[in-house]
Amino acid sequence: MRRAVCPGSYDPPTNGHVDILERAAGLFDEVIVAVLINKSKQGLFSVEERMEMLHDVSAHLANVRVDSWHGLLVHYCQQNDVQAIVKGLRAISDFDYELQMAQMNKQLTGVETLFMPTKPENSFLSSSLVKEVATYGGDVAHLLPEAVHKRLVRRLGHAD
Ligand code: PNS
Repeated sequence: MRRAVCPGSYDPPTNGHVDILERAAGLFDEVIVAVLINKSKQGLFSVEERMEMLHDVSAHLANVRVDSWHGLLVHYCQQNDVQAIVKGLRAISDFDYELQMAQMNKQLTGVETLFMPTKPENSFLSSSLVKEVATYGGDVAHLLPEAVHKRLVRRLGHAD
């Protein structure tokens, strides 16, 4: 059984995340999409809400399941028999930090990290920019799965 994890904050999940999930699901027997809990980052959505959204957006992928974790990603991988971490790379600016984490994780437990280039149309897309644009009334409907967009509009108190 080849098992991968796609870790992230997913606050909220975007079309970019879904693209990476779909492509990872085609390469591995099982993919876990895991919400990593960062106590120092105050999210717009609770971990439970993020997991619900991830359930919604991955419902069409039979070999994807949703989970959450508080702690080191490498320990999650050890405890869940995960052989690979899959990360989407948007641009060279992502690479520095991602490479550092990949090498640290490899050094800690030997777990591999695979980088997947995002589709060019998603290369500017991030959860934080989407939240900022939406907060000030910008249209982000085309950047998010419909169910996520609905929740975001509701959370920000904007008319749908
Ligand atoms: O969506 P994000 O915020 O870019 O995801 C980053 C995340 C959560 C995947 C990364 O910060 C992470 O792996 N956190 C778990 C804690 C950990 O293992 N830290 C050491 C990394 S070398």
